[in-house]
Amino acid sequence: MTNYLSFDPPYRDSNSSVSQLRMPERPLVQLPRGWLHHVSGPAFGQLKVRPGDSDLTAHGQGEPLGTRIIVHGRVTDSDGRPVRHSLIEIWQANAAGGYSDSLDVSGFPLDPNFIGAGRCLTDHDGHYRFVTIRPGPYPAFFRSTTHAWRASHIHFSLFGEAFDSRLVTQMYFEGDPLIRHDRMINAVPDERGQSRLIAQLDIDHSIAESFGPPRLHPTPDGVGGLVYPPPRTDPGVLTPRNPSALAYRFDIVLRGPGATPFESKA
Ligand SMILES: [Fe+2]
Repeated sequence: MTNYLSFDPPYRDSNSSVSQLRMPERPLVQLPRGWLHHVSGPAFGQLKVRPGDSDLTAHGQGEPLGTRIIVHGRVTDSDGRPVRHSLIEIWQANAAGGYSDSLDVSGFPLDPNFIGAGRCLTDHDGHYRFVTIRPGPYPAFFRSTTHAWRASHIHFSLFGEAFDSRLVTQMYFEGDPLIRHDRMINAVPDERGQSRLIAQLDIDHSIAESFGPPRLHPTPDGVGGLVYPPPRTDPGVLTPRNPSALAYRFDIVLRGPGATPFESKA
């Protein structure tokens, strides 16, 4: 039994239609220990997590639109120990606020170069790192207020010891003025809990490169013309794409007095 303050949002939030669906309607059933893949360490069966799965910008024919970002951090337990080799999955909207999901009825444009889902394993020290684009905000339907804006956010799922221990939460961006209007993060009952969901700009781990590969620009005759970067006068090396990305740091604490608020736990 915990004796510290939990900042998890309530299972049932009258503002959130999603929470109505996740709320169990019957008493929980206690499964016998070992009934569902209960083992002593992470166990993902035949699931192969490839290194490229953590770069959400690298799976199209071209670059996805939007600001490329690096999202990284460390997953720890209550005592600061790293959570090693844990599967983290993320999913998010594209830069226009649209999800590549048949359940998204917003009609916002889809980006053919961006699916919006990725995964990775934490390393030996609990670190993880994703490359993606900053998601756009989008309106969502809330029961008590009809339609309201969601701040830019990335959904996170973390697996614990096995598939029957899963934590789900959302990450927000430092300085986003929509955070104070977002019904989901404001369902977290305390500002201290809300602050644990806001990633901080990490300029030291950002990548700033002014020059990229040649790019086809439109011309009045419709043919287009290649525009080349200027010759380099510094030791920089041109790569097939401009690697620039803003970095955001998002550390996750699974439990204890500094625990990250989670919207659902299994
Ligand atoms: Fe979302």
